[in-house]
Amino acid sequence: MATKWDEVRVLGKVVSCAFDPYRPLMVHLFVTRRCNLACGYCYEADRTSDPVPIADLKRHIDHLHRLRAVLVTITGGEPLLHPQIVDLVAYVRSRGQVPVMNTNGYLLTEERVRALDNAGLYALQISVDTLRPNSITRKSLVPLLPKLRMLSEHASFRVRINTVLGAGPPDDALRIAEAAVALGFDAKCSLARDRRGAVMPLSASARRACDAIRQLRGRAPSYLSEDFQLSLADSGEVAWKCRSGARYFAVCEKGLVHLCESSHGDPGIPLAKYTEADIRRAFHTAKSCSKTCAVAYAHQASRIDAWRSQSAKERQILKRSWSDVTRELPPLWP
Ligand SMILES: C[S@@+](CC[C@H](N)C(=O)[O-])C[C@H]1O[C@@H](n2cnc3c(N)ncnc32)[C@H](O)[C@@H]1O
Repeated sequence: MATKWDEVRVLGKVVSCAFDPYRPLMVHLFVTRRCNLACGYCYEADRTSDPVPIADLKRHIDHLHRLRAVLVTITGGEPLLHPQIVDLVAYVRSRGQVPVMNTNGYLLTEERVRALDNAGLYALQISVDTLRPNSITRKSLVPLLPKLRMLSEHASFRVRINTVLGAGPPDDALRIAEAAVALGFDAKCSLARDRRGAVMPLSASARRACDAIRQLRGRAPSYLSEDFQLSLADSGEVAWKCRSGARYFAVCEKGLVHLCESSHGDPGIPLAKYTEADIRRAFHTAKSCSKTCAVAYAHQASRIDAWRSQSAKERQILKRSWSDVTRELPPLWP
């Protein structure tokens, strides 16, 4: 359960990371590509994949332990479709990492919330994009409200609501964030990215919603800032040093390491063979895709090293999204 001691423990690990540049801060672990939804902006899921066997996932966690990863985000697809998801959370915890999960919330039940709590889940991010389902997304407040109320009553782990701006009417985003804060949760918004991770254009009203959400009282203080969004929203570009492959990386369902969830196949090294030398190389390499990058986790995990140099020459990043071959880009909300 997320006690005060948990908060101190996690903060201590994050702070100690600042003095330890080759220690991964956040890792995304894909436990299945399968999802029960099919959002119009998502390139990371399908309707058919099998869950990754728990033995493989435990081996991945062991390797993340070897690399001294701090936060492990269990994701997909929809991670609650994985039949042994509670065991996995407990295993992440038992290996000294901080388990976090991203979900669309549809499969949450009171029993599962209690089990995840007991397994040591530290935080849960739920995606809620609109008030009501539309042609792009069914991650909507109205159908999910009973689940959110149940969570507010029974979960002792942190809960955060994430809204993808551009998936529906911009006013919805602010209403969702207000509802989240009223339920005692944190709220944040994400900029929609294309299949290569580049920011998608934002309407003026969506930009205003983004500002209003940032200013909402009652949001958790964020030590990992979201300021990169402002520059991206205004000019489509942002100057920063991406530390993906080092401070942050994704481990796909095949157990391969990718710089982020939008750079599938780069470097594509099995996690079992990923070493501190690979981390050092990634840490010091500037990436050609960083200027327009909207991958929030990459920005947030890179922020503690903003003052450190990047000595290696910029590298052209192979940007093949996982579903490059499977899905065409649908239009987002105007
Ligand atoms: C891919 S989902 C996987 C986990 C889970 N099924 C969920 O809905 O949270 C993780 C997060 O990425 C967001 N996401 C997916 N595709 C995106 C995109 N193209 N741009 C911005 N956010 C995106 C989702 O809305 C969700 O908040």
